[in-house]
Amino acid sequence: MHATLPSAKALVPFVSVENMMRLVHHVGIEPFLKELSDYIEQDFRRWESFDKTPRLASHSRDGVIELMPTSDGTNYSFKYVNGHPKNTRNGFQTVAAFGLLADVLNGYPILLTEMTLLTALRTAATSAMAARHLAPRNATTMALIGNGAQAEFQALAMKAVVGINHVRLYDVDPAATAKAARNLEGKGLQVTSCRTAEAAIEGSQIITTCTADKQNAQILTDNLVGSGVHINAIGGDCPGKTELHPDILLRADTYVEYPPQTRIEGEIQQMSEDFPVTELWKVIAGLDNGRRDDRQITLFDSVGFAIEDFSALRYVRDKLSGTPFSQDLDIVADPDDPRDLFGMLERAR
Ligand SMILES: NC(=O)c1ccc[n+]([C@@H]2O[C@H](COP(=O)([O-])OP(=O)(O)OC[C@H]3O[C@@H](n4cnc5c(N)ncnc54)[C@H](O)[C@@H]3O)[C@@H](O)[C@H]2O)c1
Repeated sequence: MHATLPSAKALVPFVSVENMMRLVHHVGIEPFLKELSDYIEQDFRRWESFDKTPRLASHSRDGVIELMPTSDGTNYSFKYVNGHPKNTRNGFQTVAAFGLLADVLNGYPILLTEMTLLTALRTAATSAMAARHLAPRNATTMALIGNGAQAEFQALAMKAVVGINHVRLYDVDPAATAKAARNLEGKGLQVTSCRTAEAAIEGSQIITTCTADKQNAQILTDNLVGSGVHINAIGGDCPGKTELHPDILLRADTYVEYPPQTRIEGEIQQMSEDFPVTELWKVIAGLDNGRRDDRQITLFDSVGFAIEDFSALRYVRDKLSGTPFSQDLDIVADPDDPRDLFGMLERAR
């Protein structure tokens, strides 16, 4: 075989899990979450310039595999992501992902990266961005129900972007709560471990639910939710997989990412087709109201949308420049004569 080196056109920067961890520590986790939240906010403000489609989901008994594409006309991105709530029992993660950013001009990829860590970061950054616009002013305390892989990211983003200083943890599995409490030690947050969801909610202005269960669960019942709180519900993100009692939705004002996707996947799948919602991007762009008053219950019915991943890929591409945190992979075949793909293969004998 001829040892021909791939040309620059063949090479695409790849960010491994190891390099993503280096990049996050290089930037600092809270600055990373804050800057990422700013990138997402920029893209929500120009929401109308993106191609949008509900993600393509392939469902199976125990989980789902999804493809999440979007484009702003200059760049194109997609993420491959799964959701398998029983995975942790066998040592696999509930959510794992990777994704790609491409140049629309010639269709070539310009970044390939792990997105398991990046999804946890972007989900937390999106939650915090929503809370900054919807949560009660001067919110200091958040209940964090579900203390799995996403939990600490949610806590730190709410600290960095919203300014909370106290997090109240609850999980059906006390080992998960102990893990989260340990990981949040020394991070500038007061951490209280609670034995019930009710105890976690006490004194909290923000309630985050990030549990994983493939059923219509009722992590929050109507009587648990007092007036004036902001609910950040991220675990209801698939048909037949919700976290809130529907009566909560009747009392709350509901904010969503992309209605055609959220009506299939979010908490509002429990409501009628025309259940009123506000698109979050309109609040960010100043076209619609955020929180009106102290008594309003606001609900961010988060399912995760492709534009957030696009922003995350854009942010990582910008942050990578001048760092050693990527390696080049020859992903694109690049024959000297673009039409002589077969000749390139023959010459490699
Ligand atoms: N909206 C989004 O953008 C987005 C992004 C990523 C993940 N998610 C979803 O967030 C959820 C959490 O993801 P993860 O990676 O942290 O999962 P995980 O499996 O690591 O953690 C889930 C935790 O929830 C706990 N739990 C299950 N049922 C509970 C209950 N009734 N009360 C309290 N705790 C309970 C489990 O014990 C576990 O510790 C998943 O449902 C996932 O699909 C949403």
